[in-house]
Amino acid sequence: MNDIHVVILAAGQGTRMKSQLPKVLHPVGGVAMIERVLDVAASLSPATISLIVGHKSDLVRDALQHRSGLGFAIQEPQLGTAHALQQAEPLLKGRTGAVVLLSGDVPMLRSETLKALLEHHVSSRAAATVVTASVDRPYGYGRIVRQDGQLVRIVEERDASPVERQVREINSGIYAFELAPLFDALRGIASQNAQGEFYLTDLIGIYRGQNRVVETVTVRDSQEIRGINSRSELAEVNRVVRQTKNEELMAAGVTLVDPATTFVGPSVEVGADTVIHPGVVLEGQTKIGSACEIQPHVRIVDSTIGDRVAINSFCLLVGATVASGAAIGPFAHLRPDTIVGESARVGNFVELKKTTLGPGAKANHLSYLGDATIGANVNIGAGTITCNYDGTNKHTTIIEEGAFIGSDSQLIAPVRVGKGAFVAAGSSITEDVPAGALGIARGKQVNVEGWAKRKKTPTGGS
Ligand code: UD1
Ligand code: CA
Repeated sequence: MNDIHVVILAAGQGTRMKSQLPKVLHPVGGVAMIERVLDVAASLSPATISLIVGHKSDLVRDALQHRSGLGFAIQEPQLGTAHALQQAEPLLKGRTGAVVLLSGDVPMLRSETLKALLEHHVSSRAAATVVTASVDRPYGYGRIVRQDGQLVRIVEERDASPVERQVREINSGIYAFELAPLFDALRGIASQNAQGEFYLTDLIGIYRGQNRVVETVTVRDSQEIRGINSRSELAEVNRVVRQTKNEELMAAGVTLVDPATTFVGPSVEVGADTVIHPGVVLEGQTKIGSACEIQPHVRIVDSTIGDRVAINSFCLLVGATVASGAAIGPFAHLRPDTIVGESARVGNFVELKKTTLGPGAKANHLSYLGDATIGANVNIGAGTITCNYDGTNKHTTIIEEGAFIGSDSQLIAPVRVGKGAFVAAGSSITEDVPAGALGIARGKQVNVEGWAKRKKTPTGGS
């Protein structure tokens, strides 16, 4: 039985990011890059997963609290990648098998690649196997130096000769190592190089000197092993991740009018024949049905949308559920725990919070509906407000099926409007309105005859 142990290097400061946030916590496709690396690590079902943390290690550990079974080692100070891996020695004491080494800043790696790495590593009985790629712009990466086709050493950009800098094959920073000789060999690495660091890449030259088997596995698509060292690379990688997701959606029958300006998070699902216009952002655990139309500049987070729903321009939906056939916006705001029923309509400048709008109900203009349960086919007039907050507590409003709320009404909660009841426009409703009744609560109109003419006449005139 050959155990697999994953070690992830995540102690570096990420100086080039110029950030207060540790590099590995910066999001890629809406998810901290370290989470992506941990997901791909988990796909190997390893016996152990160890993280080497250092710079702002508290922040990294806190961010990963929801994950169980991780081992942590602190690298302080951070003296290079070989020194980082050495910190895993106590965590792997008495273990056997292979170590798969991942970098916290290489977030696009695919599990297929890791499986291919392990397969090759085991079948060739290598002491070390390096994942490499050929790239057009190798700048910044360690270069793969071969003799007669065999990997002999890896040289870092800053230590490379002009000829070595021409080499397009690069080190991904992803490796498999046989565990048994690893930690003894790491102790043989020195720091005589341009950065004065202990380079893990020097292990290859050392193993070659000991006549150990050193192998490579080359990925075809170099994008997946891209490392992130700067904000510019972060943006590039994010673009690639988005593009990949967008391609998947289009292949599944979703129309993206302009993929370049469409942001869809990794866990978002969209049904076929849905049309997504430019500037749309779909995040978190969002699920959108089929044949929907999402107009330009809509943001939807953690929401579930049925089929044939129209979301018009400039809407924000967070934690909402919208049933099939409904229409939302433009300029609507659906806040958490909002449920919009089948074929219901939410129009411009309407905000819903913790509110259920029944099937066929309409709130078309300028309303705030909070902590309310609104029945089927209710009509909410323009400017209706549920006054749900008394300064201390929130109270609920119930509007039963088929009721009609006249424009510019305030419903002072807790309050109930019965089935089929009417509320006259401009009312401040403080008491329940029985089913079928008319509730009217506003100042009585007084018409003062001839008032306008008298106002125009100058005072004191004849
Ligand atoms: C490293 C490799 C380079 C490879 C590249 C791929 C070395 C010497 N160089 O260079 O050959 O092409 O990755 O992306 O290994 N880290 C620590 N502790 C440290 C230093 C680094 O944990 O003391 C971690 C970093 O947080 C990061 C990873 O190791 O997650 C790589 O470090 P980084 O400084 O980014 O190395 P590169 O210069 O990119
Ligand atoms: Ca790097």
